[in-house]
Amino acid sequence: MTDALTVPVDPVSAGRLAAKNLVYRLVDNGSDADTEAFLRAEARGFLDADPTPEQIAADRALLATRRNVGVFEENAPDGAFPVATVNSWVTPLTVPGGEVGMWAISAVTVSGTHRRRGIARNLLEGELRAAAGAGVAVAGLTVSEATIYERYGFASAIPAAKVSIDAPRAGWNGPATDGRVEYVERETLQKDLSALHEQARTQRSGQIAGWDARWERIAGLSVGHTAPRAVRGVRYVDADGAVRGAMAYTLKEVAGSFRADMEIHHLTSTTTDALAALWRFALQHDLVSKVVVDLRPTDDPITWLVTDQRGVDLTPHDHGWLRLLDVPAALSARTYRAPLDVVFRVEDPLGFAEGSWRLTSGADGTADVTRVDDGAEADVILGVGALSSIYAGGVSAVRLRAAGRLHASTETAAALDDAFRTADAPLLGIWY
Ligand SMILES: CC(C)(COP(=O)(O)OP(=O)(O)OC[C@H]1O[C@@H](n2cnc3c(N)ncnc32)[C@H](O)[C@@H]1OP(=O)(O)O)[C@@H](O)C(=O)NCCC(=O)NCCS
Repeated sequence: MTDALTVPVDPVSAGRLAAKNLVYRLVDNGSDADTEAFLRAEARGFLDADPTPEQIAADRALLATRRNVGVFEENAPDGAFPVATVNSWVTPLTVPGGEVGMWAISAVTVSGTHRRRGIARNLLEGELRAAAGAGVAVAGLTVSEATIYERYGFASAIPAAKVSIDAPRAGWNGPATDGRVEYVERETLQKDLSALHEQARTQRSGQIAGWDARWERIAGLSVGHTAPRAVRGVRYVDADGAVRGAMAYTLKEVAGSFRADMEIHHLTSTTTDALAALWRFALQHDLVSKVVVDLRPTDDPITWLVTDQRGVDLTPHDHGWLRLLDVPAALSARTYRAPLDVVFRVEDPLGFAEGSWRLTSGADGTADVTRVDDGAEADVILGVGALSSIYAGGVSAVRLRAAGRLHASTETAAALDDAFRTADAPLLGIWY
């Protein structure tokens, strides 16, 4: 897999920013001054408190694994904050039948003093050109603002569900399981979440690899965590003694009621038994009124594990965003659930995916994808965003057609769904 750390900054964005008297460069991960300035600028950009020296020291370990880019005022002194930040790394993205290298983008901020001068556009386009130049077929991100990234060709591709349960009303009607649920210390919780995610991430399209700091934070172990001792952990151990699921949660008293709401910060499992047992632990917990959790798959079985489905509110929302950069490499990295033979005409204002492409997939599910002459008659006309949306199998072509985002006959849209969609809904269980 490509190492993003070896990829230089994009010369086109560097030139465009230089014309605005701005310097676009890689942060020196070996320099304490440079990394501190990056981390403090990023925190400010995300409206967080200024990180403490201890947090900065801890965050450097993660920063060192990423390609960090800053935009600086010309002639800024050493240690000056960048006026914009972005970072990236290449991670496996699970797709049906395998995985593909994905250019993950994070830490996109522009200083409040430099907003709306086109800096973010140069950062994002620069990331895409760098990724494509390095041969990475797909880029991805999670977004705090859902209206920014479509203009760069990204689209919601891996929806997730927020689940809110009125526990007494929902009741329990799930299967009995023969393992046990046990409490674990936070250090064990971190290790279990990490190990389980490594297995679980290969089970659903849309997942990416985790990293230590992600699990530290969820387990309440990160430096500067606001309420580390409130974090509780349980895990499910099957009848053979293997850990098959884990859950991090906090309980918050509902004022004056002697009852609490449970917020699950992460729930991961590698078997259906583990998932049922952990759901049961949450829903049947004494003194708990409401259970809430986000980043569940949209087909979570919870609705079918309870007595009263009306006690379960499951709301899908956009979470994982993808952007195809290399159409043949991306489309041939996954398998298809039904034979397909279609010509796509893809529109991409940034050029990466622009053109006509024929995808032929046979009985074994693998696909051949080749460029065809732009004069060829297309079965499907769509923007790169719509193609990126259906790529992981989580968004329906029939639905995009109904929204006018994909043009094809009803039969072709249905055939796309038969081939592209997955049996289990795709999932991205973490933020990045
Ligand atoms: C969002 C942010 C990065 C935009 O930076 P910027 O340099 O002001 O953006 P640009 O001037 O390059 O604008 C690029 C385009 O995005 C649009 N845009 C910028 N911020 C936007 C927002 N918050 N919502 C919707 N559109 C936005 C601009 O209108 C512009 O559109 P156009 O190219 O079609 O004219 C910046 O406001 C910021 O740092 N916000 C706080 C942190 C954050 O939300 N980061 C995003 C994490 S997902």
